[in-house]
Amino acid sequence: MSVQSRVDKVLENYGLAKRDKLIPILQDIQEEEGFISRSSVLKVAKHLGIPASKVYGVATFYNQFRFEAIGTNHVMVCRGTACHVKGSASVLQMAEEVLGIKAGQTTRDGMFSIETVACMGACGLAPVISINGEFHAKITAEKLKKLIEEIRNREKSNGAK
Ligand code: FES
Repeated sequence: MSVQSRVDKVLENYGLAKRDKLIPILQDIQEEEGFISRSSVLKVAKHLGIPASKVYGVATFYNQFRFEAIGTNHVMVCRGTACHVKGSASVLQMAEEVLGIKAGQTTRDGMFSIETVACMGACGLAPVISINGEFHAKITAEKLKKLIEEIRNREKSNGAK
C-alpha cells in the first residue's frame, strides 16, 4: 500500500472525527509517513473541515511533529532536564550552527536532520545525543562538531567513489 493510501486509511479509521482528534490523527500520519507531508496536512484539513493553516498552527505548537522527511543522518539531541543541566543547549546550538538548520528541519541535500527529544532514558550519561540510533554519551559541542565533520567526510568520499 502506498504511503498516501495509508494516510487515507488513517483518516478513514477516524470516520467523522472532530477537531479534538487532530493530534491523534497527526500522530498516526507521522507514524505512516515518518513526517507530515503537505498533502497530508491538506487532507486532514479537509477531513476535519478546518483550514490547513489551523492544522499547521496546532501541529507546530507540538515539538513531536515534523514536516520534512528525516535526513540520511538523523541527529537526535536530548533536551531533558538531566541533559539540559549538563549543557545540551550548547550541543543543540552547535548542531544547528554546523548544519545550518533548526531542530525539526532537514538540510537541503537531505543529508542531515535534527530532532530534539524529551529524554533518551540514559540520564546518567548526560548530555546524550544519538546519530542514526547510535548513542553518544557525555557529548560536548566540540565533539558533536567533529562527529558531523567525520560523517560529512565519509559521505563525500563515498560519493567520490
Ligand atoms: S534527560 Fe537526557 S537522557 Fe534523560
